[in-house]
Amino acid sequence: MEFNIALLRGDGIGPEIVDSAVAVLEKTAAKFGHKFSFTPYLIGGCAIDETGIPLPQETIDGCLASDSVLLGAVGGPKWDDQPGSNRPEKALLGIRSALGLFTNLRPAKLYPALRAASPLKDEIVGKGFDIMIVRELTGGIYFGDRGYREGKYGQEAFDTEAYSVTEIERIGRVAFDTAMKRSKRVCSIDKANVLESSRLWRKTMHSLAEEYPEVEYSDMFVDNAAMQLVRDPKQFDVIVTSNMFGDILSDEASQITGSIGMLASASLGETSRGMYEPIHGSAPDIAGQNKANPIATILSGAMMLRYSFGLSAEADAIENAVDKVLEAGCRTADLMGSTEGNPLTCTEMTEKIAEVL
Ligand code: IPM
Ligand code: MG
Repeated sequence: MEFNIALLRGDGIGPEIVDSAVAVLEKTAAKFGHKFSFTPYLIGGCAIDETGIPLPQETIDGCLASDSVLLGAVGGPKWDDQPGSNRPEKALLGIRSALGLFTNLRPAKLYPALRAASPLKDEIVGKGFDIMIVRELTGGIYFGDRGYREGKYGQEAFDTEAYSVTEIERIGRVAFDTAMKRSKRVCSIDKANVLESSRLWRKTMHSLAEEYPEVEYSDMFVDNAAMQLVRDPKQFDVIVTSNMFGDILSDEASQITGSIGMLASASLGETSRGMYEPIHGSAPDIAGQNKANPIATILSGAMMLRYSFGLSAEADAIENAVDKVLEAGCRTADLMGSTEGNPLTCTEMTEKIAEVL
């Protein structure tokens, strides 16, 4: 089969890790007899440098014309002085919204080979955990009304959290459908003891749950959820939550797996076109040094094959290759303790994975 993939390398370690994923995708295409074409577009700080804005129209058009999008990371200290409306991060929100990607799937599972990298004790981890965070991605406080106004103490800045029944239902359905293919448990996370938008969220999730009698449904307040994730992560299967709570909880979930350098994500909408990216950022401190862990981006490529192209055997092959190199003891710097020997570089790790494919 033939697919066109838009590449948004972005900033910092973005270019290195995207190139790694491309190498692994090329190898997969050759092995299974497919043809993937890659077209790069600018996004984030590099786009500001070239065009003055973080999300040029050409990038949006190129992504819309592609079968799927692979993104590295955006942002860095160089662009910290940009006004809020022209920051590299704004491009990420803009492209998610332009492509209608309201669902963000963030799997967080513990690799047995990386057990030692998890900060959790053995009795907490037990036989491991495998959580799927379903994060709403185009609504909530990230996209609500914002600005400045006169407040009780003078001028104040504000952002607004707002959710409609339609938005809650469509992300809820994704979560329940996902759970039906897994161990049939959904936990919805909100702050319904305080926020009106959370009360509507909870009420809507409850009526949806009635349509899925086979799914064991529960809800939890977000502060408790943050605590439960480190107290007993095994209790979770599918977590569904708002844009901002999902942002925060997915970073927490990544750290208990051992390294944020391992976690992939898929952003999906109504069509098969998705955007795939590691959940970590642009890591400007190690950019250009060939030190970054490419696995999260390589696994994002595997998610693209599975969710956008329906190539699950090919996705399995990439995921198995990652498992194998980890089991063989291959580690990038982020996966090693300070006393262990020499870490692999980004390109060495990529070659190892491509080799066992
Ligand atoms: C993420 C990131 C982004 C987000 C930032 C960079 C805008 O933290 O993808 O988790 O908050 O969504
Ligand atoms: Mg985040």
